[in-house]
Amino acid sequence: MTEQHNVTPATDWWRDAVIYQVYPRSFADGNGDGMGDLAGIRSRLPYLRDLGVDAVWLSPFYASPQADGGYDVADYRAIDPMFGTLPDAEAVIADAHHLGLRIIVDIVPNHCSDQHEWFRRALAEGPGSVTRERFHFRKGRGQNGELPPNDWESIFGGPAWTRVPDGEWYLHLFAPEQPDFNWDHPAVQDEFRSILRFWLDLGVDGFRVDVAHGLVKAPGLPDMGHGEQLRLLGNQVLPFFDQDGVHAVYRTWRAVLDEYAGDRIAVAEAWTPSAERTALYLRPDELHQAFNFHYLNTGWDAASLRAVIDASLEAMRPVGAPATWVLSNHDVVRHRTRLGGSLDRARAAALLMLALPGSAYVYQGEELGLPEVTDLPDEVRQDPSFFRANGQDGLRDGCRVPLPWSGTAPPYGFGDAGTWLPQPADWAPLTVASQAGDPDSTLELYRAALGLRRTHPGLGAGDTVEWLDAPDGVLAFRRPGGLICTANTTGAAVKLTERPGRVLLSSLPPSHLSTSRHLLNTTGDYVVAADTTVWWEE
Ligand code: GLC
Repeated sequence: MTEQHNVTPATDWWRDAVIYQVYPRSFADGNGDGMGDLAGIRSRLPYLRDLGVDAVWLSPFYASPQADGGYDVADYRAIDPMFGTLPDAEAVIADAHHLGLRIIVDIVPNHCSDQHEWFRRALAEGPGSVTRERFHFRKGRGQNGELPPNDWESIFGGPAWTRVPDGEWYLHLFAPEQPDFNWDHPAVQDEFRSILRFWLDLGVDGFRVDVAHGLVKAPGLPDMGHGEQLRLLGNQVLPFFDQDGVHAVYRTWRAVLDEYAGDRIAVAEAWTPSAERTALYLRPDELHQAFNFHYLNTGWDAASLRAVIDASLEAMRPVGAPATWVLSNHDVVRHRTRLGGSLDRARAAALLMLALPGSAYVYQGEELGLPEVTDLPDEVRQDPSFFRANGQDGLRDGCRVPLPWSGTAPPYGFGDAGTWLPQPADWAPLTVASQAGDPDSTLELYRAALGLRRTHPGLGAGDTVEWLDAPDGVLAFRRPGGLICTANTTGAAVKLTERPGRVLLSSLPPSHLSTSRHLLNTTGDYVVAADTTVWWEE
């Protein structure tokens, strides 16, 4: 054990926590090589404390050839030299705890890197070896085994199988450099419980479980049916996604987490067909939270948002898990761009999310109102799905551009040298330094909102929202403690029949309140401006 927890030992801290995602390559560069690292993260922890988040989730920083931005892990107990050393990781955990921040690390159990020792041995020891049983090796179909063993496709495009020189094929649901583990094998199960303990002993407060829905495959690895996969992905249980057998794994993981004091948690990245199936991962003896991708995938439209909010809360209630809310992460187009490009709308979406009961995830840079970078030249791209096309959109680099911290030109204080992906030339007004202290800025809006979540715990509390009557295109709901949230998702100002209370916070920049988009119009009616969310105190 290294550093003890300095954070409040309150139980259930995670039920309404705001958790900030750091993508280490792109957060802050401590050694001036153009790549973010643990030293950079450590130096910016006070920024995260001042932002007002409760916990930080770090995407992978483990030893990795970086075929998929570190989601191809070669050694789960070692730090990649590009990010630093194990003592650097310990220092991040210790400093975070001193600042009252919790640390969640990514764990990648569905697959490893093709450079992982187990896979290298499996390749070297050949067909029939016990080391091959830890992965999914099969003979091919066709007369000479020249066809893949089944028709599954990689999520990144192309077949989910790669043939090795001795003629066998191995399964990889993602890139060929990411062989899938065989979770029926006890050695795999034991190894991951041991990895969990390794990081829990170092003091981490929890895990984000990568591809949590993928570990268990249907017996016999049955075909999907030609051309069916893309249509069914996310809409139905598949032979490799969301199999019921996966829950037995998480029951054993929960037992490990519960051995440790301090409410250590796990959050599932589980793509399932419905909120009800997501809830199965969150039964009391399984994981604590799951990302709400159904919410992330909902457009900026009051009726659809209300439906997904109700469905999410409803689905979580029987298992007693908090709902979670997320707008952006390292795999999707940043929400400012996805919702149409307007900063007003991105700010309104953030205030809506932060008024909902449960836990919220904030992706680095959304607090700066960063847009997606849509014009990266092909030669700088690194996302493996870009190179394998036809699977995912292949455009995940645009949300991974290094953060702008200060200054008027790249690298905008990210580090001393360049950046591994180029930053746009017009990001000077978006830096932390230029936004800090400016009440109109998106950074100050997030700071104010997160501050209010602390002084008004009702904002994240409970498992219900009390809907209020509202004009078309507007959401209005009451939260415990006499707080009302109104979100106008339309492109026009909307008149409210009565004033909900005193304005606590509006997503409209304060200086705009004195313009035509005033909350109180000239005739004295209460008006919520277009694409604006307001928190009111009754
Ligand atoms: C998850 C990660 C993504 C990665 C994939 C394969 O979806 O979020 O970045 O490419 O898993 O590990």
